[in-house]
Amino acid sequence: MSPVILHLRAETKPLEKRAALTPKTTKELLDAGFEIYVEESSQSIFDTKEYEAVGATIVPEGSWKNAPTDRIIFGLKELPENETFPLVHEHIQFAHCYKDQAGWKDVLKRFPEGKGTLYDIEFLENEQGRRVAAFGFYAGFAGAAIGVKDWAFKIISGDDSADLPGVTAYANEDLLIEEIKSDLKLALAKNGGVYPTCLVIGALGRCGSGAIDLFQKVGIPDENLIKWDMKETAPGGPFKEIVSSDIFINCIYLSQPIPPFISYETLNVPDRKLTTIVDVSADTTNPHNPIPVYEIATTFDSPTVPVKTTVGPKLSVCSIDHLPSLLPREASEFFVRDLMASLKELPERDTASVWVKAKKLFEKHVERL
Ligand SMILES: NC(=O)c1ccc[n+]([C@@H]2O[C@H](COP(=O)([O-])OP(=O)(O)OC[C@H]3O[C@@H](n4cnc5c(N)ncnc54)[C@H](O)[C@@H]3O)[C@@H](O)[C@H]2O)c1
Repeated sequence: MSPVILHLRAETKPLEKRAALTPKTTKELLDAGFEIYVEESSQSIFDTKEYEAVGATIVPEGSWKNAPTDRIIFGLKELPENETFPLVHEHIQFAHCYKDQAGWKDVLKRFPEGKGTLYDIEFLENEQGRRVAAFGFYAGFAGAAIGVKDWAFKIISGDDSADLPGVTAYANEDLLIEEIKSDLKLALAKNGGVYPTCLVIGALGRCGSGAIDLFQKVGIPDENLIKWDMKETAPGGPFKEIVSSDIFINCIYLSQPIPPFISYETLNVPDRKLTTIVDVSADTTNPHNPIPVYEIATTFDSPTVPVKTTVGPKLSVCSIDHLPSLLPREASEFFVRDLMASLKELPERDTASVWVKAKKLFEKHVERL
């Protein structure tokens, strides 16, 4: 059987430093008999030399467009919207065009026009119907880091008029942990050594586990960590436990309408401790958003917005919807690790259930065009 040929395309979405293949996983696939081409990339957190060192062939940025059609083009994010040429390859990526998103037809129609195929990573599922790879863990991890940062910033600056300054991607996790520990230390020195109480809802999921891991790694004591999931929210909100925590991280997967977790009424109390909310779930525009006290998706440049409370300390929300980009190296590594077993089935993609299902789904949506 001829080897599977993967072509790692350079990401073009602004500020996207993550990559669909890392040097480590490239090596693993090369060892498994794959042939791998990696595009030079001006954005990737990984240096082209790291891929070259493990044996990948380096090719110019954007060269996938004219690559032989037997290559599978592998990327993470959407292709640029301003390009419309027909797509002739098999593509593995997130395309965001199966849920009637704005412009979905323009994105999807390029594949049948060129007789190409889309395997959308968001819908790669194992036989139990569980997603094979998602970025959740590092979303929760990064969200919790911003949560501690905001809580500490408020104490250290003592200035209610300022919002948490912008943050940029960290070269690796150790640097992030070091910085958060140092913020925490400065804040503890100012507040008499009282650690924040941190409540995570959706604690059993991917994002929730990541949030808890961050809190533990920066040294939040176990007794200050409150881990909630379905059982604890079953009685229905709003919950006073949120208001009496310092940092609240929402990590639930919202699949049905639920009563809100908080409301202005519960927040507007003089003894509120809560100063920081990180809405990792970021169902910002969903009419059933359980955190209905803010309206915008925040960004790394300006990570938080103040909540319009009338009493109690200043309260801010972080609702960044691409949190894993704060740690592009580890987020990519973690993600591809989950994807690896499925990638190794690519030689049998005509029969391997994960790829067969993904192709059927693609064909179903093409029919809707
Ligand atoms: N902001 C970002 O950058 C970012 C990145 C990745 C994922 N997300 C979002 O985060 C959300 C969670 O993703 P995940 O991969 O962790 O999902 P997941 O399915 O792994 O975990 C969700 C958890 O929420 C719990 N849950 C669901 N409803 C609940 C409720 N009403 N009360 C308490 N717990 C509840 C579930 O039991 C589960 O443990 C998704 O909406 C996803 O789109 C955001």
